[in-house]
Amino acid sequence: MKLPLDIASVKGFLAEDEGEALYVHARSAASLGPLLEIGTYCGKSSVYIGMGAREGGQILFTVDHHRGSEEMQPGWEHHDPETWDSETGAMDSLPFLRRTLRRAGLEDCVIAVIGPSAVIAAAWRTPVSFLFIDGGHSRTQAFADYEGWVPHVMEGGVLLIHDVFPDPRDGGRPPFEIYERALASGQFRPIAAVRSLRVLQRVKR
Ligand SMILES: C[S@@+](CC[C@H](N)C(=O)[O-])C[C@H]1O[C@@H](n2cnc3c(N)ncnc32)[C@H](O)[C@@H]1O
Repeated sequence: MKLPLDIASVKGFLAEDEGEALYVHARSAASLGPLLEIGTYCGKSSVYIGMGAREGGQILFTVDHHRGSEEMQPGWEHHDPETWDSETGAMDSLPFLRRTLRRAGLEDCVIAVIGPSAVIAAAWRTPVSFLFIDGGHSRTQAFADYEGWVPHVMEGGVLLIHDVFPDPRDGGRPPFEIYERALASGQFRPIAAVRSLRVLQRVKR
């Protein structure tokens, strides 16, 4: 895979080998239908998934309100002052995303869906071949993303969850808890793991 831009220049929270795994699974899932991610930020993961989608002749929907998660707000660990919009008094990562997609040449196949994830999920009707959950990491938000979006994953499609830390000393629990929930549902089997990224496949009934 040859990336269309210097990925290190894109703000984000993804290691290169995790990005490569996103690309590989996106490329393979794209034969089944469109792809979707929750948690776009500045588009780092969207570049990897979008490339796989494009090679497979599909599109990626990427959902974010672009106002940042709790830990990205001023005074928190992951705040980046460059994403602060002083006019609105809020974070705004959308201009960064637009720039990333333009530089990567992916504007025609990565489609930004802007708004609160749960509101969009409630109206969503299109089955997806690939679902990447990397949005809000609070328990409420992680479970809302699981409940709202996982039913849209097709049989044979894949569910990917970021920041899954089995050891609580390594990071927050909610992504690990939704991963456990997917396994306990009996609807998914684990197929890959790279750092804190977990990949599951929806079993056929
Ligand atoms: C960890 S970042 C995503 C990182 C991105 N995948 C990357 O590769 O750099 C989480 C994103 O989720 C978004 N987010 C958090 N809660 C949300 C919600 N309830 N609805 C929509 N987006 C949300 C934040 O705005 C933030 O951009």
